[in-house]
Amino acid sequence: MSKIVIGNQKMYMNKEDVEAFSDMLKNIDKTNKEVIVCPTFPFLEYYNGIVPVGAQDVSINDNGAYTSQVSASQLKSLNVPYCIIGHSERREYNHETDEEINIKVKKLLENDITPILCIGEKLEERQNKLTETVIKNELIGDLKDLSPASVEKIIIAYEPIWAIGTGLTPTLEEIDESMKFIKEYVTTTYNVSKVTVLYGGSVSDKNIDELNTVESIDGYLIGGASAKKDAFAYIINSQK
Ligand code: 13P
Repeated sequence: MSKIVIGNQKMYMNKEDVEAFSDMLKNIDKTNKEVIVCPTFPFLEYYNGIVPVGAQDVSINDNGAYTSQVSASQLKSLNVPYCIIGHSERREYNHETDEEINIKVKKLLENDITPILCIGEKLEERQNKLTETVIKNELIGDLKDLSPASVEKIIIAYEPIWAIGTGLTPTLEEIDESMKFIKEYVTTTYNVSKVTVLYGGSVSDKNIDELNTVESIDGYLIGGASAKKDAFAYIINSQK
C-alpha cells in the first residue's frame, strides 16, 4: 500500500515560502505515495492542482457570527479534501475537548472532508504506562456515535505529545506497538475492516529511513520538517 505523507505546516510559512514549496511539490515524483499539505487557511488555494490540501482545524459551527472561525461547508466550497482535528496544540492552547473534536469529525464527514484525527499521550502519561488508556479514551470521545462506514473514512495520526517538536521519538518497537494497538482497538470496537494510522512527532529527513522500516506505519504527519523544502522533499522521495 502506498504511504501517506502529510505536511502540517502549522504557522511556519509566509507567501514566499509557500510559493517556493509549490514549485518543489509540482516537480517531485509523487507516484506510489500520497502527498497532502496542510497550510494555514490563507494559503489553502496556493497548492491547487499541485497536491491535495488539508485545513488545520474546522469550526464546530455551521454558519453565523463566529469571527475567525472556518466551517466545514466553507472548506467544502473550496474543494478542500482533508482537515486536521484534535491536534495537541489545539487541545492545549485552545482547551479543545474530545466532545468538540467529535462534533468536528461529524461536521467534516457530513461535508465529505476526510478528518485527520490526532491523538497521543503526554510524557508523564507514558512514564506512568498510561499510553494505551489515554489513546483509548481519546478515541472513545472523538469517535462517539459514528457508524463503521464513517470510522473507516478517518485517518488517525498517533502523535505522542512529548515527541512533537522535541527531536525525541519513541523507539521503533514502541511506535509499532502503538500502531498495532490503535488498529486492533478501532477495527474491533467499531467493526471496521481497516483503519489508516499515521505516525507524527519529530519525523525528519534524519530518521525517516529508519521509520520506513516499520510496516505498521501507514504514513506520517510531519510538522517542522514539512516547512523545510529539502527535508520534506527527502521524506517524500524516501517513500517507494
Ligand atoms: P514535528 O514534526 O515538528 O514534531 O510536529 C509534529 C506535528 O505536530 C504534526 O502535526
